[in-house]
Amino acid sequence: MKIAVVGTGYVGLVTGTCLSETGNEVTCVDINKQKVQMMREGHLPIYEPGLESLFHRNIAEERLLFTTELAEAIEDAELIFLALPTPMGDDGSADLSYILSASADIAKLIKGYKVIITKSTVPVGTADKVTAIIKANTDVEFDVVSNPEFLREGVAVEDFMKPERIVVGTKSDRARALLTQLYSPYVRQGNPIIFMDERSSELTKYAANSFLATKISFMNEIANLCEKLGADVDMVRMGIGSDSRIGKRFLFPGIGYGGSCFPKDVSALAKSADESYYDFKILNAVMEVNKLQKVAFLEKVKDYFNYDFDGKKIAVWGLAFKPETDDIREAPAIYILKELLEYGATVAAYDPEAINNFDNYTNLKISYGDDSYEVLKDADALLILTEWAVFRNPEFSKMKDLMKQHVIFDGRNLFDIDTMLNQGFTYNSIGRTTLDLFQKVEE
Ligand code: UDX
Repeated sequence: MKIAVVGTGYVGLVTGTCLSETGNEVTCVDINKQKVQMMREGHLPIYEPGLESLFHRNIAEERLLFTTELAEAIEDAELIFLALPTPMGDDGSADLSYILSASADIAKLIKGYKVIITKSTVPVGTADKVTAIIKANTDVEFDVVSNPEFLREGVAVEDFMKPERIVVGTKSDRARALLTQLYSPYVRQGNPIIFMDERSSELTKYAANSFLATKISFMNEIANLCEKLGADVDMVRMGIGSDSRIGKRFLFPGIGYGGSCFPKDVSALAKSADESYYDFKILNAVMEVNKLQKVAFLEKVKDYFNYDFDGKKIAVWGLAFKPETDDIREAPAIYILKELLEYGATVAAYDPEAINNFDNYTNLKISYGDDSYEVLKDADALLILTEWAVFRNPEFSKMKDLMKQHVIFDGRNLFDIDTMLNQGFTYNSIGRTTLDLFQKVEE
């Protein structure tokens, strides 16, 4: 099939590349000339495991093309995917201006039947708005379909190629048949393509992400309570997760969820509830808990140092909002490092992929190391903020030789408490620390 993908951000690139992998001819269009030129020359602008080889193969096979011209991209395409940003506006709602202006542009160019598919996460009612804008600009027949993505950064290729489900919102039989044809190679294992109306499909995306965010905030609160009651959240997590109604996944407490999706989508759903005069109480609590989780973590660090970081060096492992990505959007590390600097600490950080992004985006006066150990030299404490696999099995003796004080604040529960005690560390983690394990240094 011939496909156009409008927008070559994270979602657009993964979508375009993975759709070309099954033999479709995909033209991706973006207004950024430099980026388009770079991609034409075979440079992938994002880090995503497994994407690069697919990207190169399909460019070489001439099934994956890039252009800055919308007209060229959509001319022969039956299906047009909109993968444009929907940033969070000042009031917490999703800004639709990119989607709506692209829809108007498309309408002015089309000469025959097209299916316009919203892939970006868009508020309920967007398909109707896109339909109205296209209708106002053309007499040509078209359908607008909602087809949200459920891609996790770091495993996006696998999520696209073998999705647990595909959600398609359309009332048109013609569009339904085309989407069935497009996606059947991806659901060979028997996973469903779930068809529904456009509004339900749009809400499904928000409901999925908000539910997952709720799971995380719930576990973060259970973890906080564990610390007060002397219980171990890892045990509680396993104890409840084995109940298949609850499930084992997404029960890991930490320093709060980040990334480009959860914070934005939870806030947009709360806003959209607000606008419908519905008080979505749980969502507001989910956001509040998430905000407080990183504050509480840092509070433990501040408390340990009696709020005095003069002459103190803090080492940090992990800047990305989660492992296997260079993405630092809404990463707890941003808040935590800013605060540490404000309190006068010297900070040295290491992350396997996200240092450049972090440095460019935050411009914070910190130093960066080339590996996990370099940043530990003379450190008064180590803060673990992202659970990269490379941090999971360090040489403890080497760490101790390098660090001035053998103190670790682990925001991701990487280590076993007994191991850390035997190794001679003062070790504080999330929801597992009993008071006697956390000895405050006497003045
Ligand atoms: C998410 C959704 O999973 C995906 O379906 C959607 O399309 C986009 O948003 P992503 O943002 O890539 O994907 O990351 P995900 O792996 O879901 O993690 C989100 C955040 O939750 C991270 O900050 C992570 O650290 C946190 N998290 C996740 C926890 O704190 N605990 C958990 O148990 C799981």
